[in-house]
Amino acid sequence: MLGSYAAAMSDDATSQHETIVHLADGGTLPRVGLGTWSLTGEAGAAAMASALDSGYRLLDSAQGYGNEDATGEAVRRSGVPRDQVVVTTKLPNGSHGFEPTKASFDESVRALGVDVVDLYLIHWPEPEQDRYVDSWRAMIELQQAGRIRSIGVSNFSVEQIERLECETGVLPVVNQVELRIGLDQAELRAFHRERRIVTESYSPLKHGSALAADPALTRIAEAHGVAWNQVVLRWNLQLDTVVIPRSKDEARRASNLDLFGFTLGEDEMAEVGALRV
Ligand SMILES: NC(=O)c1ccc[n+]([C@@H]2O[C@H](COP(=O)([O-])OP(=O)(O)OC[C@H]3O[C@@H](n4cnc5c(N)ncnc54)[C@H](OP(=O)(O)O)[C@@H]3O)[C@@H](O)[C@H]2O)c1
Repeated sequence: MLGSYAAAMSDDATSQHETIVHLADGGTLPRVGLGTWSLTGEAGAAAMASALDSGYRLLDSAQGYGNEDATGEAVRRSGVPRDQVVVTTKLPNGSHGFEPTKASFDESVRALGVDVVDLYLIHWPEPEQDRYVDSWRAMIELQQAGRIRSIGVSNFSVEQIERLECETGVLPVVNQVELRIGLDQAELRAFHRERRIVTESYSPLKHGSALAADPALTRIAEAHGVAWNQVVLRWNLQLDTVVIPRSKDEARRASNLDLFGFTLGEDEMAEVGALRV
């Protein structure tokens, strides 16, 4: 199952381009990562370590998921060198502001047990608090101090990102947003493309049980010899995104990672994008 991904990772330039995305700050992200919400404790650490050993190279944690400890444990337990794993975590809503962000980041680093966080995101803008710009300033400092490789945001609008740029001169390199069939975030994606911000899609398999029974999706999946979830995730990737599906099941995780052996045509992209659940 992982053959095509592993081959693509080490193959020619075109394949590399497909499996890795280049960030505006010079870093890279794998196009497919593992969502980790609800993967907590020993079971969570075991699932995440197994994901790393089977080819995943990005773990999407958050202080709010209560699994930074399990995420760090998974990285240490897996056979994958630390510098090959992108560890993501996120600033919780209760820690907005300059000093609270720094203190919360220290807590995350302690829980993860890592020296450097690869990707640190503001989880939600929380506009009613109006302190996300102060948090952003703290993150810029932490990045300049070498404690974070890449800084980004999550659930931010065009206006909120423009405000970050206007007040600090620094754009996020990633905006993680819900992006799935029925919510293709076209306007936000166009803005991201213009500003070299990577769109990272969360909940890409939402409404999966309804999608699994959809006749059009079944037909397209059969035509490519893949499963419905692979068509849904491939559709997402072809919108120029990074996807972070979550599964506690090893076989389903492997299937969710195996997305580089087929391409959806234009008509198929339109058909999948028009599905409603
Ligand atoms: N930034 C934010 O505000 C935010 C919000 C939500 C999520 N996220 C991130 O995005 C990640 C992914 O989103 P999500 O967890 O909401 O949902 P998701 O990945 O869209 O879907 C997960 C669900 O799909 C099932 N599933 C996964 N692969 C499958 C497959 N191949 N066949 C059938 N069912 C499958 C899983 O069940 P099994 O486990 O039983 O396979 C689980 O119930 C999260 O874990 C989190 O890291 C971020």
